[in-house]
Amino acid sequence: MKALVLAGGSGTRLRPITHTSAKQLVPVANKPVLFYGLEAIAEAGIQELGIVVGDTHAEIEAAVGDGSAFGLQVTYLRQDRPLGLAHAVLIARDYLGDDDFVMYLGDNFIVGGITEIVGEFAGSRPDAQIMLTRVGDPSQFGVAELGPDGAVVRLEEKPKRPKSDLALVGVYLFTPAVHEAVAELKPSWRGELEITDAVQWLVDHGRKVESTVITGYWKDTGNVTDMLEVNRLVLESMTPGVAGECSGSELIGRVVVEPGARIERSRVVGPAIIGAGAHVSDSYVGPFTSIGADCRLSDSEIEYSIVLPRASISGVGRIEASLIGHDVEVTPAPNTPRAHRLVLGDHSKVQISS
Ligand code: G1P
Repeated sequence: MKALVLAGGSGTRLRPITHTSAKQLVPVANKPVLFYGLEAIAEAGIQELGIVVGDTHAEIEAAVGDGSAFGLQVTYLRQDRPLGLAHAVLIARDYLGDDDFVMYLGDNFIVGGITEIVGEFAGSRPDAQIMLTRVGDPSQFGVAELGPDGAVVRLEEKPKRPKSDLALVGVYLFTPAVHEAVAELKPSWRGELEITDAVQWLVDHGRKVESTVITGYWKDTGNVTDMLEVNRLVLESMTPGVAGECSGSELIGRVVVEPGARIERSRVVGPAIIGAGAHVSDSYVGPFTSIGADCRLSDSEIEYSIVLPRASISGVGRIEASLIGHDVEVTPAPNTPRAHRLVLGDHSKVQISS
């Protein structure tokens, strides 16, 4: 059995972060969200992994390398344009050969891994096995309608009027039968070859499609709100430990201080992580915060936020529910009149309390 991880796409809902980096590499508790998926795949006993990459291929390749750090053998498959999840299967056709495979969307986060579902699939080998979960806003997802016996009857991609609250989770298991389906697809209204339509094709052609409703935690980390939530969840289960230096400071609760980090005259209330080489002084870091490697935080307060490596925040009071990019500088405006002075990247979103 192989795995196919989709790490293309443009991440429009995470702009401007994704103008300069891949959405799958946005960190959760200082580790790229993609890595949690790769670990789950390796844990399920799969070794051969194809990663479908797009415009951000260089960055993904630099982060994952040959996969040996995860116990995986990685082959990169280039998708020139984001033409859909089923298009990714199409371009991976030769790589996948006649093997069964698990397809995993690189921005999905699933607590509990995929070992159990991979085992179930290997046991009964339906042509497709999908994972479903109940959501409050089904129109944002692929939605499944199940018959009274639990069989998959109909699947619809981002329906305006959803027939159920069961969303497709971004993990799918297939036998090579899916290639027949994919070869028959036409682009959807959004111009993409939808994997949802490929599964519907299998249902329509009498193939065996099984579904598992998961109750564990799942998020598609496509937007900032979901990223912050996943970050909160992962931080809550970290093992605390201080590998950096701490002076005149108070660390309360579940706090991780990575090697080379320095905390001075500050208060950190966990769960929180302070990245390698970061320097926190005269500040407060509140619960559910990840401060990336080599960040600087001085005379400031921050809570429920993700700060990417090398950002610097100084003398700005309190920051909450924020995602701050690489190398960002946040400082007070120096002179009167007191005004906000902003240099913001395209598609930035700022909420200023005034
Ligand atoms: C994709 C699928 C959708 C699924 C979702 C899960 O949506 O098309 O059916 O529910 O992933 O994350 P997309 O992220 O491409 O909008």
